[in-house]
Amino acid sequence: MYRTHTCGELRKEHSGNTVSLAGWVQRVRDLGNLVFIDLRDRYGITQLFFDTNSPLAEQAKQLGREYVLQVTGLVRERSSKNAQMETGDVELKVEVLNILNESKTPPFTIEEETDGGDDLRMKYRYLDLRRSIVNKNLLHRHRVAKAVREYMDGQGFADVETPFLIKSTPEGARDFVVPSRLNQGQFYALPQSPQTFKQLLMVAGFDRYYQITRCFRDEDLRADRQPEFTQIDCEMAFVEQEDVLQMFEGMVKHVFKKVRGIELGDFPRMSYADCLKYYGNDKPDLRFGMKLIELNDLVKGKSFKVFDDAEYVVGIVAEGYSEYTRKQTDELTEWVKRPQIGAGGLVFIKCNSDGSFKSSVDKFYSEDDLKNIAAICKAKAGDLILILSGGLSKTRKAMSELRLEMGARLGLRKVEDYKPLWVVDFPLLEWDEEDKRWNAMHHPFTSWKKEDNELINTNPGAVRANAYDVVINGVELSSGSIRIHNRAQQEKMFSLLGLTDEETQYKFGFILNAFEYGAPPHGGIAFGFDRFCSIVISNLDYIRDFIAFPKNNSGRDMMLDAPSDIDSRLKKELGL
Ligand code: AMO
Repeated sequence: MYRTHTCGELRKEHSGNTVSLAGWVQRVRDLGNLVFIDLRDRYGITQLFFDTNSPLAEQAKQLGREYVLQVTGLVRERSSKNAQMETGDVELKVEVLNILNESKTPPFTIEEETDGGDDLRMKYRYLDLRRSIVNKNLLHRHRVAKAVREYMDGQGFADVETPFLIKSTPEGARDFVVPSRLNQGQFYALPQSPQTFKQLLMVAGFDRYYQITRCFRDEDLRADRQPEFTQIDCEMAFVEQEDVLQMFEGMVKHVFKKVRGIELGDFPRMSYADCLKYYGNDKPDLRFGMKLIELNDLVKGKSFKVFDDAEYVVGIVAEGYSEYTRKQTDELTEWVKRPQIGAGGLVFIKCNSDGSFKSSVDKFYSEDDLKNIAAICKAKAGDLILILSGGLSKTRKAMSELRLEMGARLGLRKVEDYKPLWVVDFPLLEWDEEDKRWNAMHHPFTSWKKEDNELINTNPGAVRANAYDVVINGVELSSGSIRIHNRAQQEKMFSLLGLTDEETQYKFGFILNAFEYGAPPHGGIAFGFDRFCSIVISNLDYIRDFIAFPKNNSGRDMMLDAPSDIDSRLKKELGL
C-alpha cells in the first residue's frame, strides 16, 4: 500500500498515529539543523519533518522539486501552526523515505502564484494541472457535471450517445472534416452539435434525451470559444416553449444550488428586440442598469451635423462621473475609437454638482437643451452622460461595449452577483449582406411563431422564431428552440434559405424522410458546458481554465504540437 492517507487529510486528531503518504515535493526547506519538505497531492499539502539526527535528513536535503516520494512516519502536532493550511496543525516526522521517481527541475514554479507564461504552461499542461488553482477548476467541473446528471436523471432524461463521424450539421461555423480511407475522395464532418441526431431520437420515441458531449467548430477563437468544446445537449418530445423554459430554468437553479449553494430567483424574460433597444446586444449583463436611451428626437435640428446625419443617437448615464477630467474623457474617446469598438467619437454632457451643465458640444446646444437631454436620461447632478451616434446596428454594438466598460469601471459587474435571463422572440432569419440571402438566426430546424405565418411570404425578416437563450451576466450560456417536425414546413425553411430542392435532398434528405414517419412535436436546448462551468465557478467566461487540455488562440495544442503533418504513407492511403 503506497499510502494510508492523502496529503490533505491529517489533523490534530491523527497525532501519535503512524501513517504513510505519497506525493510530490513542492518545496525543500533546509534550515541547517532542521529539514522540512512540503509534500503535495491533489488533496493538499502536508509538512514533512526530518530530524537532523536521522540519516534521512541528509537524503532529504538532496531532493529536488517535483520528486515523487512515499514516506512513513509519526504524525505530531506542530510547535508553530499554520492557519493558512488545512493540515497546518500537524507535521509528519519521517521515519521511512522512499523515492518513487525523480524529476527534472520544472520549467515554472508549481505553486498558486507561478512564474510561467501562458505558452509555457500550455506546453507543460500536465505540470500546470498540478497547481491546485488549476486542478480545482477541473474538480469543480466534475461537480457541475454530476449536478447536471443528477437533475436530468431525476427528470427522466436518458443519456444517449451520438456519432462523431457524420455529415455536416449546419450550426453556422465551418466543419472540421475527416478523410475516409474506404471511400476515397469523401469526407466525414465532425459534429458542430448533435442537433439532427437528437431530433431523430425524438422521432424514435426517446421522449427525453440528453448528452454531455463534445462539439467541433472551425471558427475564430476567443476567450469563450474553443474549436472543440462540450455541450449539455437536450431534447424533449411533446413540449411547447414554456415546458422547455421551465425544465431548464430548473436545471440551472439546481446546479447553482448544488455546486455553489446559491439560490437563483425566477429568471426574467426579455424579447430580443428589447435586449437590443435597452442594452445594445442580445446577451445583456443585467447586474447593472445603465440602459441605452435613444436621443434622436432631442438632439437633431441644432446644426450639429454629426447628430443630424446620424441614423441613431444614443446615450447612457455613468452615475457620479461628472468629475471626469479632460484627460479621462480623452482617454475614453480613444477607447471608443479603437477598431474593436469602431465609434467615430464620443460626446459628453457633465451634470455638474452645482446644477449647471457642461458638454463637449456646447457650441450647438444651449443650457436648456442639455437640461432636457439630462431629464430624458434621468441623469442627476454629479452624473456624466455619454453619447454615441451613427448607423443603428453599429452604434448599438459600440454603445453596448461602452456600457460594459463603464459598468466595469464603476465596479457594477460584481463577481458575487448572478443575474440570469431568458432572451425570447428571436427573429427567425437574418439577412446576409455579403451573400445577399437569408440565414437562419439559430439553425434551420427552428420553427416560427404561428402568429407570424403570414409574414413568412411577405416579410420574412419580421418572422419571430420559437427560440430562446439563457444569458447570465452577459454570457450566452445556452440556445434552443421548438423544432419544425413537418416535412413541408422544413422544406419551406430550406427554400427560404436559398437551398435548391436537390441541395436540400442531398444534405438533409435523411431528416426530411424521418419527418414522414410520425415525428412528434419536439424542442430542446444546448448549454455550453465549458461556459456553464466558468460562470458557475468563477463568474467569468474564460473557458480554457475549465478544460483539461485546451487549445491556444490559434487552435494549436501546444503540448502535442498539433495540428501537424501526417505520415506520407497515410496521406497516400487516404488519397490526399
Ligand atoms: P448553439 O450553436 O447556440 O446551439 O450552441 C449552444 C451553446 O454552446 C456554446 N458554444 C460554445 N462554447 C464554447 N466554444 C464554442 N466554440 C462554442 N460554440 C457554442 C454556447 C452556446 O449557447 N444545436 C443547437 C442547440 C439547440 O438548438 O438545441 C446549438 O448548438 O454556450
